[in-house]
Amino acid sequence: MTVDEYKSKIENALGKYFLMGEEFPQAKLGEAMRYSLMAGGKRIRPMLVLEFCRISGGDVEKALPVACAIEMLHTYSLIHDDLPCMDNDDLRRGRPTNHVVYGECTAVLAGDTLQAEAFGTILRSQLPAERRAQCAEILAGAAGIDGMCGGQYLDMSWEGRKLTEQELTEINSRKTGALLVAACQMGVAAAGGSQLMMDAAGHFGAAIGMAFQIRDDMLDVLSSDEELGKPVGSDEKENKNTYMVLMGKEGCEKTINKLTECAKSILSEAFEDTGFLCRLADSMAIRNK
Ligand code: IPE
Ligand code: IPE
Ligand code: MG
Ligand code: MG
Ligand code: MG
Repeated sequence: MTVDEYKSKIENALGKYFLMGEEFPQAKLGEAMRYSLMAGGKRIRPMLVLEFCRISGGDVEKALPVACAIEMLHTYSLIHDDLPCMDNDDLRRGRPTNHVVYGECTAVLAGDTLQAEAFGTILRSQLPAERRAQCAEILAGAAGIDGMCGGQYLDMSWEGRKLTEQELTEINSRKTGALLVAACQMGVAAAGGSQLMMDAAGHFGAAIGMAFQIRDDMLDVLSSDEELGKPVGSDEKENKNTYMVLMGKEGCEKTINKLTECAKSILSEAFEDTGFLCRLADSMAIRNK
């Protein structure tokens, strides 16, 4: 499958969630959830779920709810990340942020609900029970205290202090890396893949996850609101520690290249059909949005 084919499969599946008629008293909450969920986005995490499932010998159709689930959880993290108490941003995926349109209370609840529904979506899927449990367990770990939320906490509490490269890696491996690792591993889990596959998927996810946040930090300085669909200069405004501050543009580029080559070479330890993932890793390394 091509990137575009995967994307339209994912968009189509996501579009079926949280459609509520006006007669439901909480219809507006469903609307707020769909507002951010259906606003576009690159859909990288669900794509990783589906492709890792495929190359692990699994059924991509049966893994679709798992792919949708990680996108729900990711969208929740974006809604909360943009709140006034966090990065205080007013543009996301090319639209006004959730709290700007629906107010802070509804935005907080839209995020909370997307998180709960992500786990429900995995647990209600048609996969065998032990694979559902494994996917949910991986996602819980990636979102929790040692994952995305833990990383977001460090990102906030270490603002304004000069960090070492190791400290910055502590933040980014959690706030961004953890969900990308989880995406790769949930694909393997959905297919019932081997431990060797699980380990290779984890190492691949960690390497592209790190490269992904370095590129995100670069774009925050070098891109424009229009191209990025979110406000540039957000990191400087919030006194964030970023790779751009730590190692500059050329240092970032070098590190991204190294991580991307490393990620691609890891794949061949456990998988044969790695063309799509190698091309995806290459395109993520030079992405402009
Ligand atoms: C943005 O993630 C937040 C980070 C973890 C850096 P993406 O760049 O994947 O955002 P979307 O999903 O395409 O909007
Ligand atoms: C946050 O990183 C990643 C999340 C867990 C949402 P950023 O704050 O740099 O993400 P953007 O740049 O707002 O997408
Ligand atoms: Mg942030
Ligand atoms: Mg942010
Ligand atoms: Mg950023």
